[in-house]
Amino acid sequence: MDVLGSGHEQVVFCSDPPSGLRAVIAIHSTALGPALGGTRFYPYPSEDAAVADALALSRAMSYKNSLAGLDLGGGKAVIIGDPHTDKTEALLRAYGRFVESLGGRYLTACDVGTYNADLDVVARETRFAHGRSLAYGGCGDSSVLTAYGVFQGMRAAAQHRWGKPSLAGRTVGVSGVGKVGSWLVDRLVEDGADVVVTDVDAGAVERALARHPAVDAVADTETLVRTPTDVYAPCALGRALDDETVAVLEAEIVCGGANNQLAHEGIAAELMRRGVLYAPDYLVNAGGVIQVEDERHGLSGKLPLVPGAHAGFSFARAEARAETIFDTTLRVLRAAEEAQVSPAVMADRMAEERMASVGRLATLRLQRGW
Ligand SMILES: NC(=O)c1ccc[n+]([C@@H]2O[C@H](COP(=O)([O-])OP(=O)(O)OC[C@H]3O[C@@H](n4cnc5c(N)ncnc54)[C@H](O)[C@@H]3O)[C@@H](O)[C@H]2O)c1
Repeated sequence: MDVLGSGHEQVVFCSDPPSGLRAVIAIHSTALGPALGGTRFYPYPSEDAAVADALALSRAMSYKNSLAGLDLGGGKAVIIGDPHTDKTEALLRAYGRFVESLGGRYLTACDVGTYNADLDVVARETRFAHGRSLAYGGCGDSSVLTAYGVFQGMRAAAQHRWGKPSLAGRTVGVSGVGKVGSWLVDRLVEDGADVVVTDVDAGAVERALARHPAVDAVADTETLVRTPTDVYAPCALGRALDDETVAVLEAEIVCGGANNQLAHEGIAAELMRRGVLYAPDYLVNAGGVIQVEDERHGLSGKLPLVPGAHAGFSFARAEARAETIFDTTLRVLRAAEEAQVSPAVMADRMAEERMASVGRLATLRLQRGW
């Protein structure tokens, strides 16, 4: 693996044998600000697999934070281990010390396998842990606004494809009704959509059906993608869109919360060729990072973004910002159509353009000694 040639600014290996900590922190870019991205706690089969994941996820965070208009670069950390058996206070605090040692170049938060309460422990060793619980002035569960942003992205895709920013009367298939998927189902039902769900966890499906008796369920994701739906919303793990899935997909729009949905770069072009409108994953699922960023914004004592809002985490302020995902999605979809490229390519272009143009200003500040 060519780590030095990967385009990342810094990759840090963290080891603390007494607590069992083995972690990798990847900082892809600090062009727009400190590199923010969550900590994934996962039993990687090898160190190489952990590094590869950290590199890919941190790069995606640079693009997500840029397109969301945040003053944040992209980073991500992975802790190698089973979160159910290996997570201890000592390990989390050892990890916090490594985060602190980077002096704020990397800001951490929750990801798969880590929760608000874990970040509260990490924060006992570092000023640079966010995504903390409400009791500690944190933003709480970020999946609430992640789902809200996905819903806004889906409304924008509906506007672009069908001329109306609503899912009323449309059928939406949701694969994965965990934290993000279940909040999304709430929004969709509220909007008048017919919803079909699936999940490998039967309990998750049961909870969704108990909450919304009108929602239907199918056996698995393979069945869901072949079911006639208007929108397919991948809300489980990555690589939801591979060659096999795209070949049989019935939906006209793909818009979901999962990260890294495209199994390879050619998938975006294939979706376009088949007339499927793809709302890029990192664009529509940025609500969570917006929620986390608001916690930092409040704590840093900067001016509130919304008149009347106070310093400290403000759900209303973060929600107002997540709502702008509607406009950004529409802008990306329209620009992609005009330029005859896929929305994935256009989203990358816009994110890179902001990193280059706004990121350049950091150099000016340094030169002028601010
Ligand atoms: N939580 C956030 O704020 C946030 C933010 C941005 C992106 N995401 C992404 O959204 C996705 C979901 O995150 P989450 O926080 O809801 O996680 P979660 O673990 O709460 O939910 C994931 C759900 O997917 C199900 N699942 C796993 N494999 C499946 C499969 N093959 N088919 C169907 N269902 C399957 C799981 O059983 C679980 O119920 C992830 O890709 C995550 O990276 C989450």
